Amino acid sequence: MSTQSLIGFLANSLKYGHDLAKTRVYTMTQKTPLYEGKAKVIFEGPEVGTLIQHFKDDATAFNAQKKEVISSKGILNNYISEHIMMAVGELGIPNHFISRISDREQLIRKLEIIPVEVVVRNVAAGSICPRLGLEEGSMLNNTLVEFCLKDDSLGDPIIAPEHIFTFGWATPEELEIIVEDTLRINDFLTGLFLGIGVRLIDFKLEFGRYDTEDGVEIMLADEISPDNCRLWDAETNEKMDKDRFRRDLGGLVEAYQEIARRLGVKVPEID
Ligand code: TMP
Ligand code: ASP
Repeated sequence: MSTQSLIGFLANSLKYGHDLAKTRVYTMTQKTPLYEGKAKVIFEGPEVGTLIQHFKDDATAFNAQKKEVISSKGILNNYISEHIMMAVGELGIPNHFISRISDREQLIRKLEIIPVEVVVRNVAAGSICPRLGLEEGSMLNNTLVEFCLKDDSLGDPIIAPEHIFTFGWATPEELEIIVEDTLRINDFLTGLFLGIGVRLIDFKLEFGRYDTEDGVEIMLADEISPDNCRLWDAETNEKMDKDRFRRDLGGLVEAYQEIARRLGVKVPEID
């Protein structure tokens, strides 16, 4: 099977709901990882310009000082992120997602990742509270976009746009596209989650450059899941995201399952 028809086969199989975890595609990913992050592993894809993104069960916090394996977390994030990335794509915001190919894997476009984490905050929570003396849960006057350098060895320090330009991590034109996409994603996701009784408190995005015949296109990368969003139940303010792990609250899998259920995402049965 040529790689082109393999991709067609994958797309059709997904459409018709075949169990791809049992196909040869799965064995193809048993290669040396190109890159291993804290929650995901990246493998070479079946075709030039593609990669396979594998979701692990590893949970880390505070720059990996706290670590645990939470069985099935990776499966839930894979399905939830697929759902959100597809919805974001339908909005017209280009992103790296091509298709989900198994319970833990997605076929994605290969991007040159921009080493800047874009954090969007609607409500004060997490690291901004001790940093600026804010109370958790206080509303911000407007949506706040912050940037952090994606560098674990430095603890992902917060940076200003001027740092991004000075060190050449992105150009002003690229950052303009990134911020515009980020704010549209925030508006869209805020509404999507409110519709299922969930408050979108904050989240983190990553972007990259994709080489096309017409030039370089900025695309959304990584994942959008309860691992990189803060999600609170709209009625009770109960945490339904990775803070359940960060703060030893327990019930992380049940919270992620509830997010999937409310979004209408069908996930495999988890014991
Ligand atoms: P923070 O309050 O810890 O700075 O996190 C802000 C948001 O970004 C929160 O939704 C969690 C997410 N996030 C990540 O996805 N990865 C990270 O490494 C960090 C620090 C935060
Ligand atoms: N994932 C990050 C880490 O392990 C931080 C976090 O999500 O809180 O460091």
